[in-house]
Amino acid sequence: MTAIAQSIDGEIIATKLAMRMEDSLQAFAVRAACFVGELGVPYSEEFDGHDFGATHVIAYVGEEPVGAVRVRWFQSFAMPERLAVIQRYRGHNIGQLLLERCRKLAESRGCNMLYTQSLPQDVKYWEKHGWRRLVAEDAGGGAKRIVAMVRAVDPSKPLPEVEAPEAVVLRREQPLDASGLPLGTPSN
Ligand SMILES: CC(C)(COP(=O)(O)OP(=O)(O)OC[C@H]1O[C@@H](n2cnc3c(N)ncnc32)[C@H](O)[C@@H]1OP(=O)(O)O)[C@@H](O)C(=O)NCCC(=O)NCCS
Repeated sequence: MTAIAQSIDGEIIATKLAMRMEDSLQAFAVRAACFVGELGVPYSEEFDGHDFGATHVIAYVGEEPVGAVRVRWFQSFAMPERLAVIQRYRGHNIGQLLLERCRKLAESRGCNMLYTQSLPQDVKYWEKHGWRRLVAEDAGGGAKRIVAMVRAVDPSKPLPEVEAPEAVVLRREQPLDASGLPLGTPSN
């Protein structure tokens, strides 16, 4: 674990990369509480099929898992998403610590850009932590519009010119039929 010089009621705040299944389950528990329980996100949307190809970072207060974020890896960027901190632990920079751990991880892997998709109401949170909108306008329509946000891994370097098409990174894994092909695929 990476401990930091901060604590809540004497309990050290630390972050850790999930290395074992049990660690991942702790990340999923935090997300289930925040997104499914608190924010009413449907389970199938929250657990979208990308969790087993992602890196999970968990924040602890003492032994208690209190925050999580997952990172997906793409050719030209890393994508932190599903950032959540259990309600009673908010306001102690735990969200920021999780994002900083993602940034350092991306840096250690030679990645130079971070990309995420935010709901319009959360854009200010990301901006506060050094992110900016990829394009001026929100992408998508309907009730759940998303805003593509980017950040240089090394803030002293300019952001690379890169395209991150929402359609590719946003899509959910397609359900498969009994033969393992995406549902609706014409059979030979
Ligand atoms: C967003 C979230 C992860 C922040 O966790 P946290 O540990 O409290 O974050 P930090 O301590 O690093 O930052 C807290 C600051 O961000 C602000 N903040 C929190 N959510 C915000 C939002 N949606 N928009 C703007 N500011 C926000 C807080 O008011 C606080 O401001 P202050 O420092 O001036 O008091 C947490 O509120 C959460 O889990 N929310 C529900 C899940 C969610 O919506 N996730 C989407 C990712 S943004």
